[in-house]
Amino acid sequence: MTLPHIAIDGPVASGKSTVAMLVARRLNLLYVDTGAMYRAVALAALHDGVELQDGDALAALAQHHRIDLEPLADARGYAVRLDGEDVTARLFGGAVTAAVSTVAAQPQVRRLLVQRQREIAAQRAVVMAGRDIGSVVLPDAPFKIFLTASVEERVRRRLAELRAAGRAIDAATLREDVERRDRADTERADSPLLPAPGALVLDSSTLQASDVAARIVSWVTSSTAAES
Ligand code: DC
Repeated sequence: MTLPHIAIDGPVASGKSTVAMLVARRLNLLYVDTGAMYRAVALAALHDGVELQDGDALAALAQHHRIDLEPLADARGYAVRLDGEDVTARLFGGAVTAAVSTVAAQPQVRRLLVQRQREIAAQRAVVMAGRDIGSVVLPDAPFKIFLTASVEERVRRRLAELRAAGRAIDAATLREDVERRDRADTERADSPLLPAPGALVLDSSTLQASDVAARIVSWVTSSTAAES
């Protein structure tokens, strides 16, 4: 049986995490933010002093530490536990954000996390957000969305988020960071960020997350109703 998985991919600050969480709540599915899994490995590497380019050592680290995503009814929609400790607040700070694209470019790390993501999706229907969900992790997902937005809009959103969290950063530095991460994600050899074949490409530059989520929910419910 093919579970009605929903795969949502897109670049930094395209709104995919918020949209995925809203869709999961509306349809009562499990929300899995795969970026948080890569961030947890990056956090563990920084903590244990593992070289960020050493794919074998990183994969050993990811195997040795336990990473759990726990669904929550808060604004983010989940907590991440590293060896049982809630590390969610530390995953989105500057140090992990600077390290994570190097960690995520290592094929050994990707192989391991992709396998874990497939194991989660084999248990129940999910809304899974990331960069390679429709293309690599769940290529048979019946609903694939590639969510994008202009660089200007993505920088504006991320700036507002950081300022709301009390973090001072200027727009030019943030734009450089977003562009650097876009390049790292789209130019890496293993599973570069690309719309999966058959994905619905949505530009959210002028849309609210709630509008994008409503479109996806209506696509899923109308297709499911048409089939039954
Ligand atoms: O979505 P995010 O910014 O939290 O993702 C963190 C990093 O992990 C980012 O550099 C992209 C990478 N990533 C990935 O390579 N594959 C995924 N499925 C999810 C995230």
